[in-house]
Formats: sequence, structure tokens, C-alpha cells
Amino acid sequence: MTTTDALAGVAAEPGSAKPDPLLVVDGVRRDFGGMRAVDVEHLEVQRGVITGLIGPNGAGKTTLFNLLTGFDKPTAGRWTYDGQDVTGVPAHKLARRGMVRTFQLTRVLSRLTVLENMKLAAVDQRGERFMAALLRPLWGAQEAEVERRADELLERFLLHTKRDDYAGYLSGGQRRLLEVARALMVDPTLVMLDEPMAGVNPALRQDLLGHIDGLRRAGRTVLFVEHDMDVVMEISDWVVCMAQGRVIAEGPPAVISGNREVIDAYLGSQHDEPTYREES
Ligand SMILES: Nc1ncnc2c1ncn2[C@@H]1O[C@H](COP(=O)(O)OP(=O)(O)O)[C@@H](O)[C@H]1O
Ligand SMILES: [Mg+2]
Repeated sequence: MTTTDALAGVAAEPGSAKPDPLLVVDGVRRDFGGMRAVDVEHLEVQRGVITGLIGPNGAGKTTLFNLLTGFDKPTAGRWTYDGQDVTGVPAHKLARRGMVRTFQLTRVLSRLTVLENMKLAAVDQRGERFMAALLRPLWGAQEAEVERRADELLERFLLHTKRDDYAGYLSGGQRRLLEVARALMVDPTLVMLDEPMAGVNPALRQDLLGHIDGLRRAGRTVLFVEHDMDVVMEISDWVVCMAQGRVIAEGPPAVISGNREVIDAYLGSQHDEPTYREES
């Protein structure tokens, strides 16, 4: 049985139970002043598949990512990762346990080289004093191993020719690739990508899609935010739609793309509509 088959019997309704959930969210709320940005009653993310997280601008997708990955604190609620309560656990500790994320706005450091960015990801995630580590190559064998892994990933992401260039010289799309490559430095179990395709040109987009698909083939679990419905349909095993902080629908991509509430949520928001690329 493939991992995708594992979702075959799962109900296409908000909060549905999955056969093997890696992430389980319960009653997670985040209020900003009087505004409830996130209000997720129950959400399970199946292990080993790609789950697409969609929803109009302001739906609370990034805020939910921030909470789950320890970059923000919830007003209420709990969640488990791999069966263990990780509510409030800070980002660097979660990374050590295999849970990493990328940012909607890339956090690639322009004044460091591509390779330094990669090495920093490994060190940073280990919670060490990263600048010190960068300035003084002090971990010997470990450093060599980190560099070997970085080079291997740069090659895989076709960034090896940029290895010693300042990251500031990369195109927007290359920064995205670097951001994803960085996330892989810690050999993660769960990879959470916040709009990885934003600003990526069509050629690199296909590469990036291939890499995301590769994460699944390598047995990793992917949760990714995306607006382009073609991308979501192409690559997701399961789709979750948020609107106004809540999960309003979830199910297989073909079911969600025709879901009335999902369409209404997008049409009701002035900012953003699901985008479909023109056939070319
Ligand atoms: N730090 C913050 N302070 C106040 N409001 C915020 C903050 N972060 C997000 N919000 C608000 O929370 C809502 C959800 O935002 P966000 O999670 O970024 O949505 P999405 O990623 O789905 O577009 C929006 O109304 C946004 O303005
Ligand atoms: Mg966002």
C-alpha cells in the first residue's frame, strides 16, 4: 500500500482523523488584540504525504505555521508531533526533532555566501552560537560532514555553481531553492513550506516542484502553503483550506477544488483568488 492509498478512506471534512498522523492540532487559537487570526479546532496531518494548505490572504496560514513551529505562542491550544506534546517548544528544539519550516519571505542572508548560509542552517538549528561557529571553524570532523552535506544538497538543487557567491546575488527563485535546501540540512521528518513558489519563475518552479515531490519520495512529510491551484492539484495528496482562522474544508485535491465553501471563501476575500495558470 502506498502512503497515498492510506488516505483513501479518510473523510473529506474538517478535522478528519488520519490513519497515521505526524502532526495533531487541538483547539489552537491565536488572538491579535480583538482579532482571532487562528482558530483551529482539530487538524491531523498524515505522515509521509504532501498536504497542501490553501486559503485566501489573511486566512491564518502563516500564523498557524508560526505557532506550530515555535516562532509564536498560542492564546490557547495544544499540538503533538510524532505522538509527543510539543506545545510551546521553541523552533530550534523542534528542528532538532526533525520539524523545520521555510518562510514566506525568505530568510536567506545576503551578506553570507551560499555555502555559509547552508552551514549556518545546520549550526543554527543545533542552537549553537552561530556567528562564533562561522568565524572559527571549530568542530573539525563535524564541520567537514556539514560541508559535505551542504555540497550534496547544493548540487541537487543546482546551486553548486553559486556555492561561493554572496546569497544576495541570487535571483528570487534561487533564494527559494536555497531556503528549501537549507531546511534539508537537518535531515527533517516534517518540512513546512510557506509559499515556496512565490516569486519563482516557471523554469525553476518545475525544479522546485520536483524537489518537493522528492521529499515525499524520500519518505518525508510535507505541509505547504500555496496559492496556485494548479500546483496544489498537481502535487498534493490532501488539501486543507483555511478561511478566517478556521479549517473550513479538507479532502483530496479533486474534491477540494470543487468545494462550494472553498470557492466562496476565495470569492469573498477581496485580496486574493485562487489562481489558475493559463495553458500554454
Ligand atoms: N503579528 C501580528 N499582529 C497583528 N495581526 C497579525 C499579526 N500576524 C498576522 N496578523 C493578522 O492575522 C491574520 C492572519 O494572517 P496570516 O497568518 O499572515 O494569514 P495568511 O498567511 O493566511 O495570509 C491577518 O488578518 C493578519 O493581518
Ligand atoms: Mg501567509
